[in-house]
Amino acid sequence: MLINVKNLNKVYDNEGVITNALRGVSFDVKEGEFVAIMGPSGSGKSTLMQIIGFLDRATAGEYFFEGKNTKNFSDDDLAYLRNQKVGFVFQSFNLLPRTTVFENVELPLLYDERSQSRSSIEKKVREVLGSVGLAERINNFSNQLSGGEQQRVAIARALVNDPALILADEPTGNLDSKAGLQIMKILQNLNNEGHTIAMVTHETYTSEHAKRIISMMDGTIVKDELVKKRRIADGAERFLK
Ligand SMILES: Nc1ncnc2c1ncn2[C@@H]1O[C@H](COP(=O)(O)OP(=O)(O)O)[C@@H](O)[C@H]1O
Ligand SMILES: [Mg+2]
Repeated sequence: MLINVKNLNKVYDNEGVITNALRGVSFDVKEGEFVAIMGPSGSGKSTLMQIIGFLDRATAGEYFFEGKNTKNFSDDDLAYLRNQKVGFVFQSFNLLPRTTVFENVELPLLYDERSQSRSSIEKKVREVLGSVGLAERINNFSNQLSGGEQQRVAIARALVNDPALILADEPTGNLDSKAGLQIMKILQNLNNEGHTIAMVTHETYTSEHAKRIISMMDGTIVKDELVKKRRIADGAERFLK
């Protein structure tokens, strides 16, 4: 089991203003799954992603990652997991401006303490850019790219450390439906190659590219269902017609 979450709670306390963002969330994710997390704004989706991705800690409950209880992990342990085990893709791409595609994608490799040769870094960057169809853009500046291409760079950057888990928070939220569909196809391909993916979305046509949909409401899971095979296959195309 990759992820095993039990009765997770998250309370935000901003100068006495209390928000119960997660109220007893429990679920598992196995290696190789592609899970979409849906739900209205404010239902706790991003909070859940941040905890799963080691950007934040739960207030209560248990989180086992690769079978290990993360409760007593130090901040350094969490930083290591964040860098080595998780690849993040955000709605706003989060690329560095005035920087090339290559430089954006190699960045996570530079944080790695195990020193790697220049040639192995270049090889890896080329490989992941190839897998998102952007090999020929390697020397472009990130701001010369369309939104869809920028998001593909962000996916390549998320892949470069061979993460155990790809987390995407509304990856198509800033894209038109055509560019969004390309992103979903890439995520589907990565999942078919064995990558485990958890993706937040509030669009039905993107969620149907996943194999499983978890629905949230007011900080709890209200539905957890498998997507039927045929719907996965033709779900998106229907929306483009
Ligand atoms: N850093 C924060 N401080 C205080 N409240 C927060 C913070 N982040 C999120 N919240 C609140 O927690 C709830 C869940 O937010 P969020 O996880 O971002 O939901 P979603 O991603 O589903 O829109 C919301 O009420 C939101 O206002
Ligand atoms: Mg959110």
